Amino acid sequence: MGRITDRTVVIGQGYVGLPVAVRAAEAGFSVVGFDVEPRKVKLLNAGQSYVEDITDDRLTAAVESGSYRASCEPADLADFDIAVISVPTPMGEGVPDLSFIESACDTVAPYVTPGCTVILESTTYPGTTEELAGPRLEVGSGLKAGVDFMLGYSPERIDPGNATWSLENTPKVVSGVDEASLAAVQAFFDRIVDRTVPVSGTREAELTKLLENTFRHVNIALVNELAMYANDLGIDVWEAIDAASTKPFGYMRFTPGPGVGGHCLPIDPSYLSWQVERSLGQRFRFVELANDVNEHMPDYVVRRLQDILNDLSRSVKGASVLVYGLAYKANTGDARETPARPLIEKLQALGAEVWLADPHVADHQFPAGVTRVEGNADDLARADVVAFLVDHAEFDNETIGNAPVPVLDCRHCLTGPLVRSL
Ligand SMILES: NC(=O)c1ccc[n+]([C@@H]2O[C@H](COP(=O)([O-])OP(=O)(O)OC[C@H]3O[C@@H](n4cnc5c(N)ncnc54)[C@H](O)[C@@H]3O)[C@@H](O)[C@H]2O)c1
Repeated sequence: MGRITDRTVVIGQGYVGLPVAVRAAEAGFSVVGFDVEPRKVKLLNAGQSYVEDITDDRLTAAVESGSYRASCEPADLADFDIAVISVPTPMGEGVPDLSFIESACDTVAPYVTPGCTVILESTTYPGTTEELAGPRLEVGSGLKAGVDFMLGYSPERIDPGNATWSLENTPKVVSGVDEASLAAVQAFFDRIVDRTVPVSGTREAELTKLLENTFRHVNIALVNELAMYANDLGIDVWEAIDAASTKPFGYMRFTPGPGVGGHCLPIDPSYLSWQVERSLGQRFRFVELANDVNEHMPDYVVRRLQDILNDLSRSVKGASVLVYGLAYKANTGDARETPARPLIEKLQALGAEVWLADPHVADHQFPAGVTRVEGNADDLARADVVAFLVDHAEFDNETIGNAPVPVLDCRHCLTGPLVRSL
């Protein structure tokens, strides 16, 4: 471990903030992980991680070394050299909800001292760092950003559950409101990640993150729409996708699914379209179209299940539908904005009984009225139809693929006599 020097505070100990805090502690910083939820702080100080990418062992090592501790006491921010803000940025009734960034800045501001550095990491629209965070920190501290203290933005690219690309080996874009700020932000991240990528301003860094997520959102929408048309045309879209993916240039593989979820894709592109409309009076048509297609995928999956039951002379009403996966993607318990939720609600509204298997998601997050099942052979034998939404490693794909009832495979990873692909 490196030398413990700079005092770092990370505001928000969630999917983004906790990995940054633990990694910084491992890199030799003295870190306070600040969160407003006392329950989380208690767990963290006991070495119990609720973020799957950070193991209990890793957290415990950071706590026991004395280089990391969690706190919900603002006074523990005193004398920080570097503050990283990683709090939520949801949408509230169609507009970005920046209240978490505002309150985090208000918490940090009294502890801003000459020479310190504040780095915003939350995903947000271009201009937030300079127009919102900077002024708020200045008012609360009486100091000037870019003169008395350093201010920058560095988007997070963390991909929960990804075993290949971690915080350390994923290049990190860094920026500052002036040269000194950029240098300070880059120096910090150079110590905790393998490679930093400087850009000239905070707006460029903010836009980089929104571009990355909008790119993904739009391309997923493209293959989702294609999958629906290909099915109606009787063409195997998955075979076409596999074949197209052999092209070594100019093509990037995206696959259809039951919709998008998590804290990023369903929300971030709307930050961009909101800002374009607010500032330029223009509509960002790609984002609107992608939102429309992706938001309707749960309806489409329900329609396909309805068709399958229809072929069996059954109605959705009274049918037992076995659903695999509530999380929005494989091998994570993150069920925020998951498309499985509206999908299940639609099935219930049509009168179906829904059984749900998801070993990663806790009971209290299960939708009302569903029955938790393991998803074993007995469950498959009792169901009328199966909706396979998420390919968690724990699921026994062979048994599910050979179910005695029709299976709608939304991930194209099952084979069997009654399996139909999305
Ligand atoms: N989850 C991802 O995969 C991911 C990836 C890249 C970027 N992001 C972005 O990072 C930001 C954080 O997302 P997340 O997934 O870590 O959210 P999260 O909900 O997992 O964690 C946020 C934490 O901040 C805490 N918090 C809220 N207000 C606070 C305040 N005023 N002071 C201190 N703590 C506060 C919450 O209690 C919570 O623990 C968002 O802008 C998100 O869009 C998320």
